[in-house]
Amino acid sequence: MKDVVIRSSGRYLPEKVFTNDHFARFLDTSDEWIQERTGIRERRFAAPEERNSDMGTKAAQQCLERAGVDASEVDLIICATVTGDRIFPATANFIQENLGNRTAWAFDVNAACGGFIYALSLAYGMLASGVNRRALVIGSEKMTSILDFTDRSTCVLFGDGAGAVLLEAVEPADNPEGYGLRNFVLGADGSLAYKLWQPDGGSVNPPNPDSLARHGHYIHMSGREVYVNAVRTMNAIVEDVIAQAGLTPEQIDWFVPHQANKRIIDSVRERLKMPEERFVVNIDRYGNTTSGTIPIGIDELYTENKLATGQHVVLMTFGAGFTWGAVYLKWGDPLAAG
Ligand code: ACO
Repeated sequence: MKDVVIRSSGRYLPEKVFTNDHFARFLDTSDEWIQERTGIRERRFAAPEERNSDMGTKAAQQCLERAGVDASEVDLIICATVTGDRIFPATANFIQENLGNRTAWAFDVNAACGGFIYALSLAYGMLASGVNRRALVIGSEKMTSILDFTDRSTCVLFGDGAGAVLLEAVEPADNPEGYGLRNFVLGADGSLAYKLWQPDGGSVNPPNPDSLARHGHYIHMSGREVYVNAVRTMNAIVEDVIAQAGLTPEQIDWFVPHQANKRIIDSVRERLKMPEERFVVNIDRYGNTTSGTIPIGIDELYTENKLATGQHVVLMTFGAGFTWGAVYLKWGDPLAAG
């Protein structure tokens, strides 16, 4: 087995900012309610002509530039998304085309807010087993394409954006400190699939006038039930992955949680008795970017020079499916020059 390290990261957020007051103009809601119940102050919405694959490409290009790796040197591209450009082919293929790569195998992972952790774990498996050498793992969402702007309980929660990481396999002998991705806790419970879903648009109910009339091609969510399950599951998986790593919560330098609701993040943090400074939070500025939240969070740490070699990092998520996942990694790049 090879070790698998994160070489670099990148992110892209659309330019246009929408504050909570924007929604209060046409919905029965308020800045006060949204901030208090979710922690969101504002989010970014992509321009109509801006595609999911455009955002994913920009995040991926930044990632490659920072690592000094040419797109042609990547042999696996995975895009986690539930808002791909088209049902098929995969958005990963459009990103591949934009990057000018003609050889990698490329596909999408559909696991909603669990998507990036699922994609990262899959890429780990391919690199650790020696099948591939370098992987781009992207989380990219144009959530505005499936938001019902007449439903105050969902449309205020989400935003558009993308993040990416570049993974590379290294020989354990060249990585004596054991940097890279180390422990994984993944799961799903399909019995709860209908608690958070997009009812129409697939083959059971292809788009038709009825589905448009009942807003079936938008997100439908039982918010309370998702909330309760998210808190319970995130608490369990974060404890599990830290125990698997043979560490204690106090030894974890950075937690990068999925950003669905600041109250969910706080409840996990409080149970672990961790200070706010160790938790990456961007929901206030970007809302829930679904597959984008975790790679965007990693990139914020990366570009703000907050990640020091040898630090312990835990990523964790929960989303539609229900899907969940937590990853422990030791930050460091044995391949970096100097
Ligand atoms: N403004 C004002 N009032 C609102 C709004 C709003 N934007 N949204 C809902 N309300 C109202 C409800 O209608 C309800 O009113 P009622 O009592 O008159 O019926 C009241 O507020 C309370 O509603 P709850 O749903 O109980 O509110 P809650 O405090 O649970 O917050 C929320 C709702 C924010 C959706 C929360 O349940 C939540 O964050 N759920 C989890 C979301 C999540 O984790 N998603 C997973 C990832 S997404 C993915 O995978 C794609």
